Amino acid sequence: MSKFYITTPIYYINDLPHVGHAYSTIAADVLARNARGQGVNVFFSVGTDENGQKTIEAAEKAGKPVGEYADWMADAWKQTWSQLGISFDRFIRTTEGDHIKASQAFIEKVQAAGDIYKGEYEGLYCVGHEAFISETELVDGKCPEHNRAPEKRKEDNYFFKLSKYGDKLLKHINNNPSFIQPESRRNEVVAFINRGLEDISVSRQGAQWGIDWPGDKDQKVYVWFDALINYLTAVGYPGKTDPWWPADLHLVGKDIIKFHCIIWPAMLMSAGIPLPKVVFAHGFFTIDGKKISKSLGNAINPVELAGKYGVDALRFYLLREIPFGGDGEFSHERFVNTYETELANELGNAVQRVASMISRYQDGEIGPVPEASHDTGRIRESMEAFRLDRALDEIWSYVRGVNQYLEDEKPWEIAKTDKTHLQEVLAQAVSEIIHVAHLLLPFIPATSERILKTFEGGKVNADIGILFPKFDEPKRPS
Ligand code: ME8
Ligand code: MG
Repeated sequence: MSKFYITTPIYYINDLPHVGHAYSTIAADVLARNARGQGVNVFFSVGTDENGQKTIEAAEKAGKPVGEYADWMADAWKQTWSQLGISFDRFIRTTEGDHIKASQAFIEKVQAAGDIYKGEYEGLYCVGHEAFISETELVDGKCPEHNRAPEKRKEDNYFFKLSKYGDKLLKHINNNPSFIQPESRRNEVVAFINRGLEDISVSRQGAQWGIDWPGDKDQKVYVWFDALINYLTAVGYPGKTDPWWPADLHLVGKDIIKFHCIIWPAMLMSAGIPLPKVVFAHGFFTIDGKKISKSLGNAINPVELAGKYGVDALRFYLLREIPFGGDGEFSHERFVNTYETELANELGNAVQRVASMISRYQDGEIGPVPEASHDTGRIRESMEAFRLDRALDEIWSYVRGVNQYLEDEKPWEIAKTDKTHLQEVLAQAVSEIIHVAHLLLPFIPATSERILKTFEGGKVNADIGILFPKFDEPKRPS
């Protein structure tokens, strides 16, 4: 692979990011950094999905004009990603001029393919979902996921002939087993298509906010229809999208697979554009077994967590905690425990011990450094299968191995008798630690750089300081 185009979902701006959004974005960042580290040409795009009704409601609540509100929020999201060390190449906003042009050009292609028609739509719209939902999904007249009643809508809309693409989609999914991952999601998508696809409404009549439907000022583009097109806009559509398109990986949460694995590929087929190579849907974090949401008041701000424990500790904990692709629980106690055990006591200590012994016994001189011993084949395989958690498992057994090596060799004993052998043992440990730091670069970039600096230039750099300081009373951030 010579290029790698990776995307995250573009998030709604009705609120600030929480740890769930941080999870997707950090995971994508790890994959982007990993590819760059292998010399692959990477384009990594993130952004905000701004054209929905949610934005209008949130602006009203905030008492701001909607455009001003959107600018303010988009800026806050962008800053969050910068603060969490996200190495994005493009931050796309769907209110930007190039995206409006790209969306309209794309819709014209779909129209030219004969896949758009006008009809009357009658249905229940859930603003929380920014989608129509069916009567059967309601509990006590409300959308159970967003705890609000849907709006009844009856209006003239443009429709997209999604129903036409069921067989083509199934064929593509069958011929490309890696298209939808993990396999459980793929099965879910196939079952959904097999139940039969219906055409979908892709415009709104008389809406005040959103992208104008090409050639019809009375209609705005349905927010999901333009949102998906962001992946093309980000790499230059409708101009030249080389070398980036097709995307190599759309990383998304499991909540939005129908949009990414059914609607989006059908839209692309209609417009005559190649499909993304892989859509990978990861699982969801819960807090105390519950969905993370503003209304439940349990949305943890990732910037606050990073402020208290460090960006790298947050990145590490999120990816270490749950199998990538599965669900799991965000636990503050486990976060603190992971920090103290794995980061401070295992990684931090290995670096600290080796650095201070070299300072004490060898005046900081590392001497000749041998090859590292560890075979990284399984780590590479795990990364290629997007199993970031497994890669960390592997790397962590390596870290523990370095500490075990020190326990077995006891350089503090050797120091009393054999300076030559002492140099060999400590240099071997340095070699392993440098190797570990390289493997960890995509996951905890700032820490890995500090480790590499500690042993740079043949001498221990004693000014690096403690990697993971202990804190007294771990408190829940308010
Ligand atoms: O759906 N655990 O935006 P959104 C893990 N604008 N990941 C989580 C999570 C959790 N608890 N909560 C959210 C939208 N996420 C659309 C996307 S793309 C063209 C348009 C992550 O703000 C996860 O990636 O509701 C999920 O898919 C995404 O946030 C939904 O973000
Ligand atoms: Mg959502």
